[in-house]
Amino acid sequence: MRKIVFLTGAGMSVESGFKTFRGNDGLWENYPVEQVATHEGWENNPTLVTNFYNMLRKKLYDAEPNKGHKLIKDLEENYKVTVITQNVDNLHEKAGSTNVIHLHGELTKVCSSREPYNPEYIRELTPENCEITPGMLAGDGSLLRPFIVFFNENVPMIEPAAEVTSKADIFVIVGTSLNVYPAAGLVQYVPATAPIFLIDPEEVNASGWRNITHIKKGASQGMEELIQEYRI
Ligand code: OAD
Repeated sequence: MRKIVFLTGAGMSVESGFKTFRGNDGLWENYPVEQVATHEGWENNPTLVTNFYNMLRKKLYDAEPNKGHKLIKDLEENYKVTVITQNVDNLHEKAGSTNVIHLHGELTKVCSSREPYNPEYIRELTPENCEITPGMLAGDGSLLRPFIVFFNENVPMIEPAAEVTSKADIFVIVGTSLNVYPAAGLVQYVPATAPIFLIDPEEVNASGWRNITHIKKGASQGMEELIQEYRI
């Protein structure tokens, strides 16, 4: 089976009711990123950070995947599909995608603040039980924190993501401004023989890259066009 690899960002989930980060009225316009999404922000005020992700998590459990997510899942009939996502939502999984790499963590999980990647202390939350009371502790006695990769932290999943990207037959980028590294750097790993498609209604700064086909549409319409016009 041919291998198709997707790199998705906040634009993927816009039609499911989520805001992007950097647009007008984007999430980072309304919540100071340095307070809620950096390592220092967490250290300074874990209560604020815990409450911020409680709020996002509640929203997530009400959200449904959109047609774009579903079309990506449907490609599993004909391709080996890997989704590398910068999103912390679970909408790819909810649409049925079976092979999802989360670069920036997962909203549905919490972990130890001492050892965030120790599986022993990672807990999957449920919709009925998704609110973390500030001050709650992980199994190792450290403060329970959202399983989110904050700015200024390592991105351990970049390694498996780069590996899978380096074997792609087709690479498709959906709804990311490609401002955040190392995620944006994955494009460098795409084999020279693999076509790259970009689905985004806006211009994305991809200057200096090799030939990319830009489908200038939202995620659902763009995915339809990819499948129909480009016979993916
Ligand atoms: P951005 O907000 O930077 O970019 C979102 C992109 O989605 C933009 O290029 C928009 O034009 C595009 N877009 C808007 N509506 C769309 C639609 N309906 N369909 C498709 N695309 C649409 O978000 P990301 O690039 O995902 O990190 O941001 C990367 C990371 O920065 C995030 O994972 C997050 C953030 O800080 C962490 O939380 C660690």
